[in-house]
Amino acid sequence: MTDLPRIPLAGVIGHPIAHSRSPLLHGHWLARYGIKGHYIPMDIAQDDLPQALSMLPKLGFVGVNVTIPHKERVLKLAEVVTDRAALIGAANTLIFRADGKIHADNTDGVGFMANLRQLAPQWQASQGPAALFGAGGAARAVIAALIEAGIPEIRIANRTRLRAEVLQADFGGRLVVYDWLHAGEMLDGAALVINATSLGMTGKPDLRLPLDRLAAGTVATDLVYTPLMTPFLIEAQARGAHIVDGLGMLLHQGAPGFERWFGHRPEVDEATRAAVLGL
Ligand code: ATR
Repeated sequence: MTDLPRIPLAGVIGHPIAHSRSPLLHGHWLARYGIKGHYIPMDIAQDDLPQALSMLPKLGFVGVNVTIPHKERVLKLAEVVTDRAALIGAANTLIFRADGKIHADNTDGVGFMANLRQLAPQWQASQGPAALFGAGGAARAVIAALIEAGIPEIRIANRTRLRAEVLQADFGGRLVVYDWLHAGEMLDGAALVINATSLGMTGKPDLRLPLDRLAAGTVATDLVYTPLMTPFLIEAQARGAHIVDGLGMLLHQGAPGFERWFGHRPEVDEATRAAVLGL
């Protein structure tokens, strides 16, 4: 009897995992392209991570997305780490290679840039400074991508100033740290404004920063996508900014993994958005 080809499995690992929208995203693409494969959410506790990563390839998994709290730790468990994942200090995409090695990548930054390219095509990194609120893991990925894209300056403010200073030490002179209390001043002459804090997310306080220095036509984007229209984006739009919501970053960061696992470059369009929003 000839062996039937194995149906490729992929998924997302995290703890908790129920909130993840990645199964909707990849499920949509699998159905859309008629690919025989499955994408499964897996709740894996911290202590079980090494064992799970060694078992998943044997069970037929070709790779996984990684979310909180495993994004940093998987770097130590992978044999091959891309430069950008090493620079960001976290991975969101693993590929289980045929030779048994785990390849770790971080596609958050490329997702961020692809979302801007699609929804704010007039914006160019070389145009002027970016103003960034927040200095967590998401901010790191954004900074790495903006520097790679040739941004001249990134102004950064974070409630805990030290975290912004650590980023400045890691990424160098193009970062200028502002005090959180003076964060509104970063908007003077900025071509791009980014909220990379968790403020504005459902159940969290709003990002309450004065936006009076935001010039009309500036691109404003939020990494928060629940809700899609955050109070920050609503106010930025009222001031004439070109706004880009955060859902597209989630969709675009998933595309490289899908392509590697299932062999088809997926599209990100209105149908993709609708599927992930459960419309
Ligand atoms: P992520 O990986 O999503 O970036 P994170 O590393 O926990 O998550 O970072 C969350 C970001 O939101 C940080 O910049 C955090 O500021 P601190 O470094 O001072 O904690 C910011 N943040 C969260 N709650 C905040 C609040 N109430 N006020 C101001 N900033 C807040």
